[in-house]
Amino acid sequence: MKRILVIHGPNLNLLGEREPGIYGDVSFDSLNSQLMEKAKEMGAQCEIFQSNHEGEIIDRLHAARKDFDGIVLNAGAYTHYSYAIRDAIAAIKIPVVEVHISNVFARDGFRSNSVIAPVCRGSISGFGLASYFLGMDALIKYE
Ligand code: DQA
Repeated sequence: MKRILVIHGPNLNLLGEREPGIYGDVSFDSLNSQLMEKAKEMGAQCEIFQSNHEGEIIDRLHAARKDFDGIVLNAGAYTHYSYAIRDAIAAIKIPVVEVHISNVFARDGFRSNSVIAPVCRGSISGFGLASYFLGMDALIKYE
């Protein structure tokens, strides 16, 4: 059975309230229930973690390296400038799929750059909450 960890970065805990025109009106808790359900349907185990703090995300990435087969990571704004998260991903051997709810290439210029993309297994951006499900699919079916 595959063990998948979903990591949500900063501000994603406010999903449903935060800029609904961009991120939709589905709540964070509802997204997480759907992710747990989807993993179950696919015969995988799933755990979910959210933090607004860079160091906590790094600690979770490190700790996951022995207990999980893959990680779905929405690093939020850290995507665009956190070399520390990039190095943490590079340091662990399990595949990490980068996901974004919005199409980061169609927004502010600074969002077009992902410093984590080169060390991720792949990236999915712009499919709304489905980006997370596609990320999970990718880890379960293609890894
Ligand atoms: C995001 C895109 C980032 O640019 C932004 O800072 C987020 C959310 C997304 O899921 O679309 O917090 O990662």
